[in-house]
Amino acid sequence: MLALENREFYRRIVVAQNLLFSFIMLVFLSGLYKNKNMNDLENYFKQNTGRLIDKWHHYFEIYEKHFSRFRGTEVHIVEFGVSQGGSLQMWKQYFGENCKIYGVDINPHCEKFAEEGIEIYIGDQADRKFLRSLAEKIPRIDILIDDGGHTMRQQKNTFKELFPYVSENGVYLCEDLHTSYWFPWGGGYRWPFSFIEYSKRYIDNLHAWHAASWCSKPLSWGLKVSDFTRSAHSLTYYDTIFVVEKAPKLEPTRSETGTRTIPDWSPPWLIRLKAILKVLGIKIKYPTMRD
Ligand SMILES: C[S@@+](CC[C@H](N)C(=O)[O-])C[C@H]1O[C@@H](n2cnc3c(N)ncnc32)[C@H](O)[C@@H]1O
Repeated sequence: MLALENREFYRRIVVAQNLLFSFIMLVFLSGLYKNKNMNDLENYFKQNTGRLIDKWHHYFEIYEKHFSRFRGTEVHIVEFGVSQGGSLQMWKQYFGENCKIYGVDINPHCEKFAEEGIEIYIGDQADRKFLRSLAEKIPRIDILIDDGGHTMRQQKNTFKELFPYVSENGVYLCEDLHTSYWFPWGGGYRWPFSFIEYSKRYIDNLHAWHAASWCSKPLSWGLKVSDFTRSAHSLTYYDTIFVVEKAPKLEPTRSETGTRTIPDWSPPWLIRLKAILKVLGIKIKYPTMRD
């Protein structure tokens, strides 16, 4: 009788043990759970129960594309727009213990979000003097994220003053470009003073070497090779985000390899012009797509 009771007692202990083990495993695995369709930043954002973060959902894929190469390195990140401090902590977690984060905001209360690896600067990003003083205080900018007030003046002044300070292989990312279409922020569709309209001149600047050809000169005389031409590798526009990837650049060169086997096509007007010039004995160098 006693033996039977003992057996029942031990059976119950084993069942309780199994239940406890299953419960611990469930808690452990749910902590490890990550949605495989989301990148690390998106996972962090979705699971965030700490300080508030305010981001459009499609930004995470863009961040991953442009920022992932800096993970685990001693990267220096400046973010305009601290708000509740949540995004600064997200960057710290994503880039790792060697990163240095500088949050900039007009709201003096944001100072309380300073901690190890995170410095806070208070000032107005529309104020070019403040921006210049900021550039002197921060040792290096590898990534600049403009998520501040999003007015045209703030976005333009921040780009004008701080783009040159971004390191030679760094990234400049300006978000919430939709305010370029919102008049209270100073925007408007094709409004010449919007940030989007302003940023389009950098598409020209990226191509400035090609404006040196004689066939472009009369109409492109204002387009000159600048520091931007020599330092910007690419401009990428996404829905409401603008990214400039920097990389030192030399004048582009080209050459041909292989053998031409058919005559090149020429427009009829050019054939006639060539014939007339030949009769007149005039020789000129015709521009081609390869010039
Ligand atoms: C969109 S929130 C930033 C969100 C934050 N980066 C995040 O992901 O959670 C915009 C922030 O920009 C700040 N801001 C507004 N105007 C500013 C200005 N002129 N200069 C600097 N910061 C400004 C606001 O105080 C606010 O904290």
